[in-house]
Amino acid sequence: MFDLLIKGGTLPDGNQADIGITGDKITAMAPFINADAAQIIDATGDLVSPPFVDPHFHMDATLSYGLPRVNASGTLLEGISLWGELRDQASVDDMIARALNYCDWAASMGLLAIRSHVDTTPDHLNTVTAMLEVKDRVKDYIDLQLVAFPQDGLYRTPTGRDNLIRALDMGVDVVGGIPHFERTMQAGADSLRDLCEIAADRGLMVDIHCDETDDPNSRHIETLAYETQRLGLNGRVAGSHLTSMHSMDNYYVSKLLPLIAEAGISAIPNPLINIVLQGRHDSFPKRRGLTRVKEMQAMGIPVGWGQDCVLDPWYSLGTADMLDVAFMGLHVAQMTHPDEMARCFTMVTQTNAQILGLQDYGLHVGAQASLVVLDAATPTEAVRLRPARLAVVAKGKLISQTARADANLALPGRPKFINRRTPKHS
Ligand code: FE2
Repeated sequence: MFDLLIKGGTLPDGNQADIGITGDKITAMAPFINADAAQIIDATGDLVSPPFVDPHFHMDATLSYGLPRVNASGTLLEGISLWGELRDQASVDDMIARALNYCDWAASMGLLAIRSHVDTTPDHLNTVTAMLEVKDRVKDYIDLQLVAFPQDGLYRTPTGRDNLIRALDMGVDVVGGIPHFERTMQAGADSLRDLCEIAADRGLMVDIHCDETDDPNSRHIETLAYETQRLGLNGRVAGSHLTSMHSMDNYYVSKLLPLIAEAGISAIPNPLINIVLQGRHDSFPKRRGLTRVKEMQAMGIPVGWGQDCVLDPWYSLGTADMLDVAFMGLHVAQMTHPDEMARCFTMVTQTNAQILGLQDYGLHVGAQASLVVLDAATPTEAVRLRPARLAVVAKGKLISQTARADANLALPGRPKFINRRTPKHS
């Protein structure tokens, strides 16, 4: 007798399995389970996946689009400036309300683990207070990991470093940074040494907004790899964005990628955001704003797609759908081989879970009972369709259901209901 039984679904690896859930754990998996359950979900013909994971988000800023006004230039720098005004105007309650609203969207999309950068610049640290409260309030359905992020630079404000330490003392999980926004290249490098030492002392992970610029001379990832090696942080460090790598000299990159691989650093490109933020100073040809995804993967570097923003000073769209992120990433990185398309789905599930260091993630006996049932047959089809999340199970509980979106056709001689699943060739 299970609490919940998922019947007839297809796993991302193509195998079919029934999944039995007891409490908040998966307690049985087999091609066919003949047992009673308090609740049964029929997933016949549908894809059953572990939940989506977003390794890069800004929940303190989300759903604030238009406050106090829109970003007219569309640049990263105007976004930072706008946010600088908003974070001092918004109350803790405002930020909590917006973040909880976003978490509802995320839950309905099967996005059940999120790493969110929290701005630690202002002395009031309202952002940190709000996000710690949100983390606690959503813990039954979303694992929210917080990064202490000195948005205005560790050294550009008199209390930048102190406030980052205060945030970590308050319970923020991960050490963040933004070396390309410090005043000089040297200050950026110094910040990385400092931040990695803080993480080493405290036994924490590191996730740096690194080289989010079109300047090929922004090479802080090299310093991050060096400090990671020096301090033995291998496997605990992520470089987010890494966009300058798209414009670096190929010879330099041929030296750089092995250093990143050797240091066990993960990469988190954010294609929705960087395709609109980068290249704003270019005429034509206009750069794409994405790091070297396939090239890093070929070196064994874990690369996961991040979302970064939804309706905030940097990005005016977004729906909490990690399949939108994978879809954009697939296009911009030209990942069109069948293996690469399927990998884009893995990047927003398994790879991102690995980057966050999630324990008990996945679909196997003993894992946390969190999963999503998609109106698609395969991972590649899920990326193509970005379909309805028919059912979302979080820690053993069915928390969301969405109806299939079949069209009701009124065409003589044609089928009445159609969907857009891939036709089978005979
Ligand atoms: Fe970011």
